[in-house]
Amino acid sequence: MLPLMHPRVVPVTTPGGAYDVVIGAGLLPSLGPRVAALCPGPLTRAVLVHDAALPGPTVASAAESLRSAGARIEQVGLVADESRKDWASAGELLRALTACRLERDQPVVALGGGLIGDLAGFAAAVYRRGVPVIQCPTTLLAMVDASVGGKTGVNVRIGEDLLKNMAGAFHQPRLVLADVATLGSLPDRHLRAGLAECIKHALIAGSVPGAPAGMLERTRGAIAGVLARDPGVCVDIIAWSVTLKAAVVASDERETAPDHAGGRALLNLGHTFGHAVETLPGQDLLHGEAVGLGLIAAATTSQALGLAGTALVDLVRGLIRAAGLPDRLAPGADAGAILDRMGHDKKVSAGRPRLVLPREAGRAGVHADPPVEAVRAGVRAILG
Ligand code: GLY
Repeated sequence: MLPLMHPRVVPVTTPGGAYDVVIGAGLLPSLGPRVAALCPGPLTRAVLVHDAALPGPTVASAAESLRSAGARIEQVGLVADESRKDWASAGELLRALTACRLERDQPVVALGGGLIGDLAGFAAAVYRRGVPVIQCPTTLLAMVDASVGGKTGVNVRIGEDLLKNMAGAFHQPRLVLADVATLGSLPDRHLRAGLAECIKHALIAGSVPGAPAGMLERTRGAIAGVLARDPGVCVDIIAWSVTLKAAVVASDERETAPDHAGGRALLNLGHTFGHAVETLPGQDLLHGEAVGLGLIAAATTSQALGLAGTALVDLVRGLIRAAGLPDRLAPGADAGAILDRMGHDKKVSAGRPRLVLPREAGRAGVHADPPVEAVRAGVRAILG
């Protein structure tokens, strides 16, 4: 099958690897030849790690394409559930790679959302100290964010607490193939959750040299087209986000830039609040929904600190609503519990939270240890 439109290619160059993100409709049947072209020798074996809930024809299309390029395929279907993004699943995956004797230059192909990409990427990073990983994201969220930039990870549980991505490795993919045709089977709720990350990117674009111009306005204008699943609009919004992310990770692959420089930490806008509410009992939030709430909380914190006016809070809440995302938590959430959880975030430095805060539209900065009253105002803005 020929791609339905000419694909867009965004190159990513980092110290850990250079690769293309190819975005288009109907790309999965070209997966095998594209992977084979990247291998030093013939493509003889690949492990296809996929979301067990993906439609059969999507998985079959990827597998068949890899087979047609000469690879014997080992298929591993995983349940995409946060509670199973853990050591046990990573161990299961490592046993599968070992059992089929995957060699150093033979790839792991991840087909699914961010959770599958993170787990498969983590296994690929540590198996034999690193084998190639190919990311084939099938959710909007994974296409615009998780599949690009080389972050992989698993959650760690301590008692009742699930600490997200507490263990992981940087492992850049060799190729990212984003086929927007796979979004056809993505539930509406997950499509909306992906838009939260697009909105996040639009809110930091003014602080990222190399980001597409006018991203905030363009993103605002694209939301309805994405919700209508217009393939051209989906390709556009993904390409803007990937271009921005490529610029960020090219300059700060490992998130080590100082706070004043912003760097990769800017991509955490909305995430410190978001991670704190995502696993709150009684909320049942998708990651993107939690990030959307986090964006509103961060904008409100900026306002409380005098870094932004009410117009920014209104703009962010308006974008979140336009994307059909929740702008408040379900009743019952407790501000104290959320503030407490924020102390557990990975981005905590010396026991104090570091927050990314949006300023005027399109700009953002990293703030170490913001006053708790301002952070509390952010949390109150999303209480139900
Ligand atoms: N999702 C944030 C990052 O890749 O750094």
